[in-house]
Amino acid sequence: MSHPVLRVLSGEPVWPPPMWLMRQAGRYLPEYRELRAKAGDFIALCTNPVLASEVTLQPIRRYGFDAAILFSDILILPWALGYGLAFKEGEGPVLPRFASETDLASLDPARVAGAIAPILETVQRTRAGLGDETVLIGFAGGPFTVSCYMVEGGGSKDFARIRGLGYTNPELLDRLIGILTESTIEYLSAQVEAGAQVLKVFDSWAGILSPLQFRRFVIQPTARIVAALKARHPTVPMIGFPRLAGLSAGIYARDTGLDGVAFDTGADLERALGLVPARLATQGNLDPLAVVAGGEALAAETRAVLDGVRGRPHIFNLGHGIVPQTPPEHVADLVRYVRTA
Ligand code: CP3
Repeated sequence: MSHPVLRVLSGEPVWPPPMWLMRQAGRYLPEYRELRAKAGDFIALCTNPVLASEVTLQPIRRYGFDAAILFSDILILPWALGYGLAFKEGEGPVLPRFASETDLASLDPARVAGAIAPILETVQRTRAGLGDETVLIGFAGGPFTVSCYMVEGGGSKDFARIRGLGYTNPELLDRLIGILTESTIEYLSAQVEAGAQVLKVFDSWAGILSPLQFRRFVIQPTARIVAALKARHPTVPMIGFPRLAGLSAGIYARDTGLDGVAFDTGADLERALGLVPARLATQGNLDPLAVVAGGEALAAETRAVLDGVRGRPHIFNLGHGIVPQTPPEHVADLVRYVRTA
């Protein structure tokens, strides 16, 4: 009998739904904060296979989630291409601002294999530390979302630079996304070879684009990534997370070839599930702030998600990552609610 997560991703409804949580390893856990302090820098933590695999396993030991997700970051790929990256305390990621052909020429795909070697060792070590009851998810950022951080030089309130670039110099953005797409294919493929059993593409800013731009900068590269991975690893299922995409989640599901689509917090499940084929796996979408609140709010919001997905192939998750102020005991309550559904 195959694992419940793999059964769901093959289109089979499983009840209660298997579960894991985005950012399940992170600052809300005291054991993470302790290791993070030991590693110092966040990039140092991501590139230390002993510590990164330990951090990946922490939430599995505590809660017994059905899936572990590699502890790394979507911005490790531009870093591996030789692009500057720093994580500033309280500020998030800081990168050089990508704006020209010169910036494009500075990206070096030949560096990637060497730079990602420690991440692949983390995948190997993590898989070796997990039992058969837990699948290991590998991941990368969607090329568009990674481009967002490169073009903006970090996070942004309105992403006006990249949205502008998509109109004023779409060829340059195409070429940046093209380089990221090809490197992402190699990176994800290497994760599978190291032991990842499911892949997830995080396109957290997919929803900021017009429908036309969404096709060009989100659907096209994602479809290329999925086709290349399916050619190399036909049995490895792939989930996409087109955050904030709203109604466009429908064409995203249809035109990318993904096995599963993850919905964000705002997606009304009754309508969202109507946008995708009944046999396509879905994932989501409890509000992370309901987990912070706990109590009756958490119970009611969890029940609403469970009622919304009954009978469908679904993986229970949040609509976005756990936030640092989440009380760990509320996560234990959530696991109990889902497991006794
Ligand atoms: O447990 C997991 O989910 C696996 C690890 C993981 C991280 N980031 C660890 C992390 C994963 C899958 C990601 C993906 C990621 N990273 C996304 C896509 C998902 C999403 O949240 O939308 C994005 C957009 C990023 C980029 C990123 N990384 C930002 C904007 C930040 C700063 C904001 C923040 O939460 O601090 C990070 C840092 C980061 N990535 C942390 C963690 C645990 C916090 C770093 C720390 O410990 O100081």
